[in-house]
Amino acid sequence: MMRWRGAMLDISRHYFDAAFIKKTISALAAFDYNTLHLHLTDDQGWRLESTVFPRLHEVGSVRKQSQNNHGLLEPTYDGKEHSGYLTHADVRDIVSHAQSLGMQVVPEINIPGHTGALLAAYPQYGINKNSVEVSGRWGISDYLLRPFPETFEFLTKVFEEVAELFPSEYIHVGGDESLIDNWLQDAEVVAFMKENGFATTKELFIFFMKEVEKIISALGKKMITWDDAFAFDPEQATHATVMSWRGAAIAQIALDHNREVIQGPVFPTYFDYAQEVSVDEPLAIGGPVTLDDVLAFTPLAGVTGVQFQLWTEYIQTPMHAEYMMWPRAAALAYRCWGEGKDFESYFEKRKPKLDALGVTIRDLDPLKRAKIAHLGIGAYYRGFDTASMMEALEKSAVAGEVAHDF
Ligand code: ACM
Repeated sequence: MMRWRGAMLDISRHYFDAAFIKKTISALAAFDYNTLHLHLTDDQGWRLESTVFPRLHEVGSVRKQSQNNHGLLEPTYDGKEHSGYLTHADVRDIVSHAQSLGMQVVPEINIPGHTGALLAAYPQYGINKNSVEVSGRWGISDYLLRPFPETFEFLTKVFEEVAELFPSEYIHVGGDESLIDNWLQDAEVVAFMKENGFATTKELFIFFMKEVEKIISALGKKMITWDDAFAFDPEQATHATVMSWRGAAIAQIALDHNREVIQGPVFPTYFDYAQEVSVDEPLAIGGPVTLDDVLAFTPLAGVTGVQFQLWTEYIQTPMHAEYMMWPRAAALAYRCWGEGKDFESYFEKRKPKLDALGVTIRDLDPLKRAKIAHLGIGAYYRGFDTASMMEALEKSAVAGEVAHDF
């Protein structure tokens, strides 16, 4: 079996509590997953208690409202506060449950972009020290940490606390979709670049990630980044494990540069994408990523593992999250590390474990499929051109650019 058999759950965009996370770990373990990657922080919420910097959870875990239409549209909002964070006791409980099932829990603290919630709590570490709110809008934001010693001192303490809580071999530091030219809007950052001989914001970004790599290494951990952080400059990038989300081309380049690679391409491992083009499906970022697509996925030779992603901009409830995960999570397991002669019998054999846990599964038979109107907030977004999006993702991955439009 491959070494990293992963699932990512985003509890920033919508908060999912320890009970649901433990249930999900039990369900995943039944299919030989060994890693739960928790996306703990983003523009829309900081979901981990901090005794060192309490404003992170006190301020960063609360947003005033959430966008309730598709992120590509002019936003409309629900007017409802959304909050929640894992306490240290929650994390210990989750980690010990995971360990009992042979799983590791890998925390992600996303920097230097995707830091809206952090900066709502501690604006002094952001561009121009701007005061910001925890964002209720979906999509990529302008927030960016400043590349100064005080930021790295702050991050050292943040990561020390995280490393203490999570015994995993790895810490994920994000590094995706950072709008690094925003650094040029901050005169102090521009002066810092001049003083230190950074000709471009890319060089500054590499410097930033290398400083973070020192912090993570000093904690005895291995660092993971999304592929953006590698693709900015494959020759100069950190030695972090590359979590490749923008297609196989960038994953292959990372392998060719002797990086450890975990493959989690949008297509077909973003399980927040709709499972079928149908108005019966709940609102989703795009799609479809069908069960057959997952069953046809072939990881590259040489990768350390594979992972599916459940981002939760459009997923508000445990039932909806499970509906998106199952049976696709089973299909990925079967395809990448399962045994047996066909998926149906593989799944049927293990399904009683999901049933015993009370997991919601999207029925393969459309006639039997549960009515799901109550799960989502509208029909699957149909204006989305998935084919051209995939093409653009591949191109931007190879060019080392951020895929800003998605
Ligand atoms: C990502 O989807 N921005 C990793």
